[in-house]
Amino acid sequence: MKTIIEPFRIKTVEPIRMTTEEQRKELIKAADYNVFSLKSEDVIIDLLTDSGTSAMSTKQWAALMQGDESYAGSPSYYHFEQAVKELMPFKHIIPTHQGRAAEAILSSIFGGEGKIVPNNTHFDTTRANFESTGITALDLVIEEGKDPALEHPFKGNMDLDKLEDLLRESGDKIPLIMTTVTNNAGGGQPVSMANIRATKALCDKYDKPFFIDSCRFAENAYFIKIREEAYADTSVVDIVREMYSYADGMTMSAKKDAFANMGGWLALNDDDWAEQARTRLIMTEGFPTYGGLSGRDLECIAAGLKEIVDEDYLHYRIRSIAYITEKLDAIGIPVMKPGGGHAVFIDAKKMLPHIPALQYPAQALAVQLYITGGIRGVEIGSFMFGRQPDGSEVAAPMELVRLAMPRRVYTQSQADYMIECFEEIYKKAGEINGMEITWEPGSLRHFTSRLKPVDA
Ligand code: F0G
Repeated sequence: MKTIIEPFRIKTVEPIRMTTEEQRKELIKAADYNVFSLKSEDVIIDLLTDSGTSAMSTKQWAALMQGDESYAGSPSYYHFEQAVKELMPFKHIIPTHQGRAAEAILSSIFGGEGKIVPNNTHFDTTRANFESTGITALDLVIEEGKDPALEHPFKGNMDLDKLEDLLRESGDKIPLIMTTVTNNAGGGQPVSMANIRATKALCDKYDKPFFIDSCRFAENAYFIKIREEAYADTSVVDIVREMYSYADGMTMSAKKDAFANMGGWLALNDDDWAEQARTRLIMTEGFPTYGGLSGRDLECIAAGLKEIVDEDYLHYRIRSIAYITEKLDAIGIPVMKPGGGHAVFIDAKKMLPHIPALQYPAQALAVQLYITGGIRGVEIGSFMFGRQPDGSEVAAPMELVRLAMPRRVYTQSQADYMIECFEEIYKKAGEINGMEITWEPGSLRHFTSRLKPVDA
């Protein structure tokens, strides 16, 4: 059959409150043109993030009732630990309330002034956690990964030549090497097994630990299966196990590829690091058998991890993103190609060439998308990344709008509605104004800054 259907039925529904374009013009103005300041009830299709927004399955809801809320030694922890080890056989599995808490603990062990951590592309919280300890967070994704229009099967790959140059020149400053799967800030693009293996080989050569920022590990594994010839007949579970056989540790947000609404973990093999991590965990998150989570969350993650590696689900997931990407491409919208794992990325630099980078074309597009269709996406460009630690402002390499698809939430007709909104916007793209910031905080400005349209 040609049509790939959603491999689930809907049992409970959440009504969507419909709004008019006139209402949305007022609502976005009242939100100071920052989509993070909108009330979610005022959004028709919410593609702000795929994080914590999954629809849970009947098994996950049932698992919640199994949650044992004991402070120490809860069976829910052991179910969680076993489910993680089934896929990622690390020695120490340390639960945290979400991914960034795992990053903060990792930074407390490895951070320090003058150090450098390379990654394909750091996510914003990963960068902020590292930088807050004095680490310089370097992005070393391959050049192909920076050109949205270029087709390449693994645009999330680490640039191994640049990595080796860095290790040769500044090896003594590098406490660890990280790879993010999929490469979220670089378009949700996958990293190949060959690249993971080669990164590990460099880590071994220069005696550095290798970590995987793993939020979307299952989507990455599925891309390896369909795009890396040697893995065509390997199961996703075995691909995942091989990916983690090369790593010394991982950080994870269970809010993505574990179908959970909350949760995360840090996994490590080294006993000394694990001891330091658990000490920090007790200070900041909780006792080691619950971390930052309740027993029911741990059960829910354990159930979600079994479902996320289902290949029928992953086939539908990756295909549904490709469907939107291809349709947008066909009507002339410049999209990141090929489609990513969790999101569709629009190249606003190309779509709105009349808006200079420091008038945030992708923010302007995100605002217009909300006004036209009540769709909330997020800017990943100079508004998010432009402000430098020294206070200067530099244009980001790409100006993207990310439309992140919550897992198992929206249907194909809702996808078709999104595509129709873009058709509308495309017609009047030349009339969209740039944005200026009227107030910004000291860091992570995209979350809370206030903006207004230029000339308004
Ligand atoms: N690493 C990556 C690659 C991420 O995408 C995220 C979160 C984190 C770490 C942090 O995890 O949210 O559980 O603390 N990304 C979300 C997003 C927020 O919208 O892309 P967290």
